[in-house]
Amino acid sequence: MKIIQLTDTHLMPPGIAVNGVDPEAQLREAVSDIVARHGDADLLVITGDLCNFGDPEAYELLREILAPVPFAVRLMLGNHDRRPKFVAVFPDQPRDSNGYVQSSIDTAFGRLLFLDSHEEGVIGGIYGPDRMAWLDAALNDAGAQPVTVFIHHPPVFDGIAHFSKIGLHDDGAVLVRLAAHAPGVRHIIFGHIHIPLSGTSAEGIAFSSGQACSHRFITDVAARAPWWTGGNPCYRVLFLDDHGFRAFGAEVGQSPTEQAQPCDGP
Ligand SMILES: [Fe+2]
Repeated sequence: MKIIQLTDTHLMPPGIAVNGVDPEAQLREAVSDIVARHGDADLLVITGDLCNFGDPEAYELLREILAPVPFAVRLMLGNHDRRPKFVAVFPDQPRDSNGYVQSSIDTAFGRLLFLDSHEEGVIGGIYGPDRMAWLDAALNDAGAQPVTVFIHHPPVFDGIAHFSKIGLHDDGAVLVRLAAHAPGVRHIIFGHIHIPLSGTSAEGIAFSSGQACSHRFITDVAARAPWWTGGNPCYRVLFLDDHGFRAFGAEVGQSPTEQAQPCDGP
């Protein structure tokens, strides 16, 4: 199974930059590249902060930009989003019985879980009892399937000073639930921190983030206020198959220097 991950697209109404970067131009280039190179993918997931201020016009723009994607799309909320505005433009995106934008998909390689950690007015993530009840049921219903988890806010320790007070405010509860899932957790995939990070939790669960398609920061994990910067549009290509899980970073706008030679010798 091939999944494309975009994250932190931070769309604004057309023509408005965010932290010095034009989010619309970034996303248009990324989607164009995805459609050209990965038309065989099974799913596109955007792991939150779809829009910078949750403007209806920005969600409309997102819908227009994603229209050429020829496979299923699953959209998730981040702290910058606004759930009612999102739902108004994307009524077909699945929600749970409480209205949270969270859902699951069963695949040949386990259950995919999409968790909603957005809470209006909170920069960090919230995952309270009502959402947790949904997660408990989704894990229980997964039966013998391993799970692969998508969420905007990292449910793990990320070690980045700027995000130390705006992570998932759950005291590790989500991670405890996942660690108790006997068939295993293939991977936890998140956004929010805007830079690539990979690691393993103390419980032995592997995790990684995608790099933001819009602005990111010059990597300095100790800085409380790092410098925002730009960069080429980017996304990740995720594979779930009999080998397990793999994630490849893809950057748009690279130009080739020299043709590589086949290395198929002994
Ligand atoms: Fe973000």
